[in-house]
Amino acid sequence: MKVNFTTPHGETVEAEAAAGDILLGVAQAAGMPLEGTCEGQMACSTCHVIVAKEWFEKLAEASEEEEDMLDLAAGACRTSRLSCQIVLTEDLDGLTVTIPHEAHDMRRG
Ligand code: FES
Repeated sequence: MKVNFTTPHGETVEAEAAAGDILLGVAQAAGMPLEGTCEGQMACSTCHVIVAKEWFEKLAEASEEEEDMLDLAAGACRTSRLSCQIVLTEDLDGLTVTIPHEAHDMRRG
């Protein structure tokens, strides 16, 4: 199955993934600038991605903890999710997410 990432610069990167993969890991393997500092503990929000609207509804709902963390994520919007909480399934073949600009802000200082 495939997952599409849109970089903060607007490029599209297609990545190969398998059911059961965590979206964060697939993104990192594809070279996306997601830190994922807490490795899926829902304690950092550096794995924040914006899910394409048509895909957002297809994902399992975010837990309350995830929602709380998203409230703190820079540039979060209605279809934001933590990529460390998204487990890929065959239904999600073609999933498209955008890596937010804010992922770069730290480097700019
Ligand atoms: Fe920290 Fe996802 S890796 S919240």
